[in-house]
Amino acid sequence: MGLLMVFVRVLFLILVMLQMGTNAKIQPKVFDVTRYGAIANGRTDNTKAFERAWSDACKWNGKSRVLVPRGTFLVGSITFLGPCKYSIAFTLKGILKAPSNPSVMTSDQWISFRYVNQLAVNGGGSFDGQGASSWKSINKNSKALPISLRFEFVKNSRISKITSMNSKNAHISIFGCENLNISNVKISAPGDSPNTDGIKIGNSKRMRIWSSSIGTGDDCIAILSGSSNIDISDVFCGPGHGISIGSLGKYLNEKNVWGLSVKNCTFRDTTNGLRIKTHASSSASIVSGFTYQNIHMDNVENPIIIDQQYCPYPPCNLQTPSHVQIKDVTYNNIWGTSSTKVAVTFQCSQKFPCKNIVLNDINLVHHGPGGSATSQCSHVNGVSSGRQIPPSCL
Ligand SMILES: *[C@@H]1O[C@H](CO)[C@@H](O)[C@H](O)[C@H]1NC(C)=O
Ligand SMILES: *[C@@H]1O[C@H](CO)[C@@H](O)[C@H](O)[C@H]1NC(C)=O
Repeated sequence: MGLLMVFVRVLFLILVMLQMGTNAKIQPKVFDVTRYGAIANGRTDNTKAFERAWSDACKWNGKSRVLVPRGTFLVGSITFLGPCKYSIAFTLKGILKAPSNPSVMTSDQWISFRYVNQLAVNGGGSFDGQGASSWKSINKNSKALPISLRFEFVKNSRISKITSMNSKNAHISIFGCENLNISNVKISAPGDSPNTDGIKIGNSKRMRIWSSSIGTGDDCIAILSGSSNIDISDVFCGPGHGISIGSLGKYLNEKNVWGLSVKNCTFRDTTNGLRIKTHASSSASIVSGFTYQNIHMDNVENPIIIDQQYCPYPPCNLQTPSHVQIKDVTYNNIWGTSSTKVAVTFQCSQKFPCKNIVLNDINLVHHGPGGSATSQCSHVNGVSSGRQIPPSCL
C-alpha cells in the first residue's frame, strides 16, 4: 500500500516536470486584446480590455503573449503588474493611442510595467503619446504630464522593435530595473517639444541599448542617480540634448553612477553630444568609469561637455560648488563638427575637481564665425594623447 502511494506520487511528479518542460519550449499562449472586447477604431476606450488580457496572460501557467493586432487602439493609463507565473510578452503590431487630454488620464504615466521578470515588449508597432496639444499649455506651475512608457523593477527583459512618438513627457522611463536590453527602438518628437526625453534611466543596472534612433526635444538618453553598467552602442541621436549623465546634485542622498560605455554613436544637430551635468549644491555622489568611443558629431553645439554649474532655470545660487566627484572618464576617437566655437568644455567643481579625464584622438572642427574650435578647462585633471583638434586644455 505505502509503496503504491510512493509510486503514484513519483509518477505524478514526473508528469508535472514533463508538463513544465514542454510549456517552456512550446509557443506562448496568445491573449489577443480583441478577444477581450478591444476595438480598433481609435476612439473606444480599451483600457479595461487590455487590463483583462494582461491579467489572464500573467496568471497563465506557461509562456504567454498579450497580442495587440494591427489597427489603432485608444487606451488610457494602464499598469501591467507582475510578478507573472512565467515569461510574458507584450506584442504590439498596431498603434496604441493615448488620450490627447492628459486630465482624463488617471496616473502620471500612460503605460507602465511593474515587477515583471522576463518581459518582452516588441512587435513593430507604435506607442503614440499624442503630446502635441499638451506641450502648448505647459508652464512652470503645470502638473507633471504623463510619461509614455514606464518600466519599474523589471528584470531580465527586452524591449525591441517598437516606436514611441510624441510623448507628453518623457518617452521611456526606467527605474529599479536590472538586465534590461533595449534594441531597434525608434523614438521621435519634434525638436522643440518640452521635456520629451527619449530614455531616462534611474537606479538601474546592467542595461544595454543598441541599434536605435532617438530624436526629441530633450535628452536622447539621460542617466540618473544610482545607475551602473550601462552600455550604449550604435545609437543615432538628433534632434535633442544629447546623451546626458544627470542632472545630478539636485536632491539629497543621490547614489553614485558608474560604468558607462557609449560606442559607435552619431549625434546630428543636437545641443549637446556627450554631457555630464551637475547642479552647484552640497548633494554628494561619485560619477566614475565612463568610456566614450568612436563618436561622430555632426553640427553639435557642445560635442563634449562637463558642466558642474548646471542651471536650467536661471538664476541659480552658484555659491556652493558641486559636491559631485567626477573621475575616470575617457573620450576616445570623437570626431566631426561643432556648431559653436567651444567644442570641448570641462567646467568642473572647484571643491571636487574632475580627476583622470582622458582625451585621445579628438577631431572636432568648427566652421564659421570666430575661427577654429577651442576647448575650455576649469578645475580638471587629466591627460590627452593622439590628435587634438581643438588643442587640448588638459
Ligand atoms: C542582454 O544582452 C546581453 C548581451 O547581448 C546578453 O548577454 C543578455 O543575456 C541580454 N539580456 C536579456 C534579458 O536578453
Ligand atoms: C563599433 O564599430 C566597430 C567598427 O565598425 C566594431 O568593430 C565594433 O564591434 C563596434 N562596437 C560596438 C560596441 O558596437
